[in-house]
Amino acid sequence: MDETIASKSSWAEPFKIKMVELLRVTTRQERERIIAEAGYNTFLIRSRDVYIDLLTDSGTAAMSDRQWAGLMLGDEAYAGSENYYHLEKAVQNYYGYKFLLPTHQGRGAENILSQLLIKPGDYVPGNMYFTTTRLHQERAGGAFVDVIVDEAHDPQSDYPFKGNVDIAKLDRLVREVGPRRVPYVSLEGNVNMAGGQPFSMANLKELHAYCRQHGIPIMLDATRTIENAFFIKERERGYASRSLARILREICDLTDGATMSAKKDLLVNIGGFLACNDEDLFKRAQNLAVVYEGLHTYGGLAGRDMEAMAIGIEEALMEEHQAARIGQVRYLGAKLEAAGVPIVKPIGSHGVFIDAATFLPHLDRDEYPAQALAAAIYVDSGVRTMERGNVSAGRDPETGLNRRPNLELVRLTIPRRVYTQAHMDVIAESIANLYARRTDIQGLRMVHEPQYLRFFQARFETISR
Ligand code: F0G
Repeated sequence: MDETIASKSSWAEPFKIKMVELLRVTTRQERERIIAEAGYNTFLIRSRDVYIDLLTDSGTAAMSDRQWAGLMLGDEAYAGSENYYHLEKAVQNYYGYKFLLPTHQGRGAENILSQLLIKPGDYVPGNMYFTTTRLHQERAGGAFVDVIVDEAHDPQSDYPFKGNVDIAKLDRLVREVGPRRVPYVSLEGNVNMAGGQPFSMANLKELHAYCRQHGIPIMLDATRTIENAFFIKERERGYASRSLARILREICDLTDGATMSAKKDLLVNIGGFLACNDEDLFKRAQNLAVVYEGLHTYGGLAGRDMEAMAIGIEEALMEEHQAARIGQVRYLGAKLEAAGVPIVKPIGSHGVFIDAATFLPHLDRDEYPAQALAAAIYVDSGVRTMERGNVSAGRDPETGLNRRPNLELVRLTIPRRVYTQAHMDVIAESIANLYARRTDIQGLRMVHEPQYLRFFQARFETISR
């Protein structure tokens, strides 16, 4: 297996296609009407009106024939489903945590973990925020504190481990508030909001030593941690000949528990889990699950979903799968770079992130350049992308002002095993054309702002000059 990566610079999909889903192409005139009706928010466009859907890599993977066969083995008993025990075994085996609680998706696990561990007035340090993760931490009374390395906030820095925790920043917080006000460190693999950037094993070891010394647990957001393992294998000394499974296990062994959105790494359309080694925490989580998710042996999932997830873990750990998955993302990124389009570097694992602030320097951050660019891409080619900037970051709860993060990005997220290289060519061509006409793109005004996670449902109008 290792040789496939080490000895070849080219890659090909390690599968052949057995079933296809037809795409619908709309006209430019139709798309202009559709985006206006959707309030210039790509989340509010109907899927039938999208040509190539790069909104997210979440729940959008193509399952394998083995996974589809697994659906037929669904044991839909309310309690004690056989599929729960398969999944438990797979998580114990590959992630290495002792206890498993399935949840309907990642945020279900985040809700339970946050409610159980965070008290009002606590601080939760993490390697950059994720939208749902931070919201649950805040709703439990905590304040999120960003302790990621500075390079992560600089789209031009090509530092290979932009997901690393800056231990000095963490130490500053711990000294200031005391370790008892820090219930855990929230550590994300392949940091989504930074552009899909990994932490290194060396950094995790250092973090682990620090946290042990201060009695602070580490809770991993394992959503894209197998992709993080791929980068460790590729970039970190001493890991080139280790299997992804061994690297994943080493990561998890340095943490105390994990929340998981299985809709990414694990190649399923729905599902998640909370896993940990502390039995008392697990029992309390199982009890809270019956309030929010369902009985502790299904957690909001059908038995068949748990079976597909158990099979997905093994497929996600196949080296050739990750080489092709990440190879495809890099193929698109390299094409955009060649066309001069400003993108976040290094190219991450789950998508290419356009630096919208550099793409549209004529727009103020409060005219939402990334939101405007995502809308313009849709109008140009029917390709649906997502804003990851000022709209996603929301307002500071203390000042009520937009957070205006340094990273103002449009995410071209690549679903796993879904699109071909020719689709990547079409996407790159459209964005390169748009880049040539970038001064025509107008800013947006927010006209409807929901209270929680506003980016999902906010509506905008164009600002005409
Ligand atoms: N953590 C990370 C790093 C995520 O990327 C997501 C979801 C979640 C947690 C929440 O999981 O959606 O299953 O409840 N990310 C999706 C995305 C929505 O498009 O990036 P969920």
